[in-house]
Amino acid sequence: MSDATAIEQSRIIDHPMHNRAQSLLPLKVSSLSYSIRQRALLHNIDLELTISGITAILGHNGAGKSLLLRLLHGLIAPTSGTVLWHDRAVAELEVRKKQAMVFQKPFVLRRSVAANIDYVLALRHAASRDTRDKLLRDANLLDKAKQSATSLSGGEQQRLAIARALATDPSVIFLDEPTASMDPAATAAIEQQLQSVNRQGIKIILVTHDIAQARRLADDIVFLHQGAIAEHTPAEEFFARAHSTAAQHYLDGQL
Ligand SMILES: Nc1ncnc2c1ncn2[C@@H]1O[C@H](COP(=O)(O)OP(=O)(O)OP(=O)(O)O)[C@@H](O)[C@H]1O
Ligand SMILES: [Mg+2]
Repeated sequence: MSDATAIEQSRIIDHPMHNRAQSLLPLKVSSLSYSIRQRALLHNIDLELTISGITAILGHNGAGKSLLLRLLHGLIAPTSGTVLWHDRAVAELEVRKKQAMVFQKPFVLRRSVAANIDYVLALRHAASRDTRDKLLRDANLLDKAKQSATSLSGGEQQRLAIARALATDPSVIFLDEPTASMDPAATAAIEQQLQSVNRQGIKIILVTHDIAQARRLADDIVFLHQGAIAEHTPAEEFFARAHSTAAQHYLDGQL
């Protein structure tokens, strides 16, 4: 390899938009099914995610969105089929370590805001005041570092939960309805945080019932209907004219 090529390669690798998510992508899901007591809750899921943008998973209540998120994250194992991240099984520790999950109800530890971040950094032997302060600054929580985490508002707790997920240094973050029941200002603050996270090269896979949010954030839409993927479409195209009847009805507010 010439010096110029070596420099170019290291520049690309160092650039945040190119590392992180690229080390886990593409995600390839093949013939995935998930059943409980003979009931197929997800069936014949094939999905390929190649870009490190924001993917939104949409669908009616009970369509299987949360189950799919858990399967992609390896929290539950499929009944049949495979989930591969960059050709590696989701069950591999190295794959799991690069993923973080944020739930609808923010989960914070009963200690100060700063200590919530310190706890995670210490787990991966990366404790550093600078790293912690940067994470809190990005979450717009630095001025509340000493406050007890449980005294934060719901929106602030969710920003802390996202900052704590980032403290694990993930390549992919999964979020299951992260702004449900939040007011427009709290929602906007979290959306800004997610966009900034994504600009750092971290892949985001988001379940939401907020269609306007999906329109604002998503690069591509996975639409689930009755346990199957009805379509996977670039967001602009999806909102201009969804391909599947199920998604068209969903967007029209019909059952
Ligand atoms: N542990 C379980 N045992 C039995 N059925 C389950 C289990 N977990 C999920 N289901 C069923 O699987 C289906 C999909 O559930 P899931 O939670 O993925 O839906 P969802 O798309 O996330 O819905 P919502 O928008 O309401 O959150 C539902 O019918 C649910 O009742
Ligand atoms: Mg759900």
